[in-house]
Amino acid sequence: MAITRPHSFFIATPIFYVNDVPHIGHAYTEVAADVLSRWMRQSGIDTWFLTGTDEHGQKIMRTAMANGVSPKEWADRLVEQAWKPLLATLNLANDDFIRTTEERHESAVTKFLTLLHDKGFIYQGEYEGFYCVGCEEYKAPGDLHEGQGDYEGQKVCEIHGRPVEVLKEENYFFKMSDFQERLLELYRDQPDFIQPPSVRNEIVAFVTRGLDDLSISRSNIDWGIEVPFDNRHVTYVWFEALLNYITATGWGSDEANFQRRWPAIQLVGKDIARFHAVIWPAMLMAAGLKPPAKVFAHGWLLVGGEKMSKSKLTGIAPSAITDVFGSDAFRYYFLRAITFGSDGSFSWEDLSARYEAELANGFGNLASRVIAMIHRYRDGVVPNPSPGTSEAEDALAATVQSAVSAADEAMHALAPHEALHQIWRIVDHANGYITEQEPWVLAKDDANAERLDAVLYSVADALRALAIVLSPFMPEATQKLWHALGAEVSLGALVNQRVFEAGARGVLPVGSHLGELEPLFPRVEQEK
Ligand code: ME8
Ligand code: MG
Repeated sequence: MAITRPHSFFIATPIFYVNDVPHIGHAYTEVAADVLSRWMRQSGIDTWFLTGTDEHGQKIMRTAMANGVSPKEWADRLVEQAWKPLLATLNLANDDFIRTTEERHESAVTKFLTLLHDKGFIYQGEYEGFYCVGCEEYKAPGDLHEGQGDYEGQKVCEIHGRPVEVLKEENYFFKMSDFQERLLELYRDQPDFIQPPSVRNEIVAFVTRGLDDLSISRSNIDWGIEVPFDNRHVTYVWFEALLNYITATGWGSDEANFQRRWPAIQLVGKDIARFHAVIWPAMLMAAGLKPPAKVFAHGWLLVGGEKMSKSKLTGIAPSAITDVFGSDAFRYYFLRAITFGSDGSFSWEDLSARYEAELANGFGNLASRVIAMIHRYRDGVVPNPSPGTSEAEDALAATVQSAVSAADEAMHALAPHEALHQIWRIVDHANGYITEQEPWVLAKDDANAERLDAVLYSVADALRALAIVLSPFMPEATQKLWHALGAEVSLGALVNQRVFEAGARGVLPVGSHLGELEPLFPRVEQEK
């Protein structure tokens, strides 16, 4: 199946709350967005990867107060000490990082509110109902449970398990109910607007039941962006936070850049799919802007069957994994082991088993055997395969070609787990091929020199393809391999290699001089 590659690709993660430090759930979203955007960039597509932090609202304000500092001091501390360092821990190549306390965000939010107010989509009213500070969300009675134990007699949020607050305040409202039909039309006309289908169905059902107007201001807190037409109010934190995707790309200040980037693919966890697939497109429609390109909701990382979470203290720090296994293994593991869009359980046992079997013994061992044999049998020079090629080499080349094109298709379908599955067909075929061809036997008799040349070339060229298509997933290991293949010199920088062309046969230049291969996946001490 032929795919159409878009001209541009803009992917954004949610902006994360700075009430606490990141755990591997946040890291999962970041890694997925990074791998997808590296793939697109390496396809020659005009790519932009945005991430950042969500710093206003009651949750952050209360955390700061509990720690005896101002909300801004708290946010600065968490951003500098925890959230920005995460980028390096995971080896992310994001193009921008937006903080909602930045001037570029605040001024554009003010413009957006003024615009919607002028267009008549904002009106004053009174909100009476429930609010969960954990979710930073207004709750309908149907979303709540009866509290038990300490919370007997109170209504609790089903996500946080804590009592919701009862609010009665004068608010500004966004006429979201006006957009029910247009949203349903969007979901109909663009069936993959919300993915995966399970989330889509849930959202279509939700909107079909009817939409209420949305309260978009709060009057009893001041940690937020002032409502421009009434300074007694600050903007409701979600209404403000969603706007980061356009305030970061120049809406209201740099129209050319905004046109170049927007619309975005919104990569989110399924906990916040509704905000992104209902409220967000309705806001954009009201402003006369395009809705997002799509909303992809990945599943949850579970610990003991429950969503890993900061508020339930089940978070695992990403560095606990990368310190032991490295960032490449982190990136590989979560995208390989979990079907993108489904929930997945994390376990140290599964991680180490896959590290051993797939990375160290599978890919790593393939690379080290091939590089070592070319050094030993051919003085480190890539031999000419032509005279001795047989059907076995044709078969390996066919696997490389079909796996690369299937992986490319999978990446455009936002299915990185499937892309890795396809790419591993190359690893497995190449390892099996070496076992069958026994180059160490061929090397014993000069009469087999041409066969040995063909075998060594063919696996070296497969490694060349693997280095390219795995580079968005594992930038460090593939860079070591690229160096060892002498490809930096013979083919140029790894990041400049087109991923979707990597399946072509016979690209590694004959006569390339190999370098040394640093260990790709060192043995780790098992203590867990
Ligand atoms: O919701 N499994 O921020 P947040 C998988 N500020 N992904 C997880 C996860 C888990 N157990 N836990 C968290 C907010 N995530 C708002 C967003 S956007 C305009 C505002 C990831 O800090 C996943 O991407 O609670 C989820 O949607 C996000 O972190 C929530 O991060
Ligand atoms: Mg959350």
